Amino acid sequence: MAAAASTFTATDGDAYERQMGRWSRRLAEAFLDFAGPVAAEERVLDLGCGTGSLSLALARRSADARICGLDFSPAYVDYAQRRAGGGDPRLEFRVGDACAIPFPEASFDRVLSLLMLHFVPRAPAAVAEMRRVARPGAVAAAIRPVTLAAAVRSRARQPVATISPSRSPMPRPSFARSRA
Ligand SMILES: C[S@@+](CC[C@H](N)C(=O)[O-])C[C@H]1O[C@@H](n2cnc3c(N)ncnc32)[C@H](O)[C@@H]1O
Repeated sequence: MAAAASTFTATDGDAYERQMGRWSRRLAEAFLDFAGPVAAEERVLDLGCGTGSLSLALARRSADARICGLDFSPAYVDYAQRRAGGGDPRLEFRVGDACAIPFPEASFDRVLSLLMLHFVPRAPAAVAEMRRVARPGAVAAAIRPVTLAAAVRSRARQPVATISPSRSPMPRPSFARSRA
């Protein structure tokens, strides 16, 4: 039997925003700092875009990047579309599976994924898809949370970036970036 495409249980956009929204918004900014500046007219894929925090943060930073948010959950895609307001031609949101990204190879200058890969049982297939749709020389980057125990161990190794979760049990993120 084929592996499920996702272990994530999507609720509705409002519920996600209440629970995770403030973390996603903060992480989105740190992730964009980590992933480097977006050049003029870059085409960017936000893989597992959820309710759209990363895509919208990107749109605020870049006047002319073209951003596509892709997510498995139609409810989140619908929420992201409404959040973006529909009047911004730079932003597009679509339903799709990270393991079968519905774009030809070398479609994007930047492929970013915030807090998604750990929900994909076939994560290597998703990473292969990230590479396939990234043009040569593109930046591909992802964040996944690490457990608190692992974060404590890794503190001594100076992670590239961390977000202090104050009193929340939110796990610290781990960052990874490569050039395709
Ligand atoms: C924790 S949420 C993160 C959403 C968003 N990136 C953020 O930071 O707010 C995980 C997201 O990954 C999406 N997801 C999980 N498996 C997926 C897959 N195989 N393909 C596309 N999206 C997937 C879920 O629908 C969900 O929106």
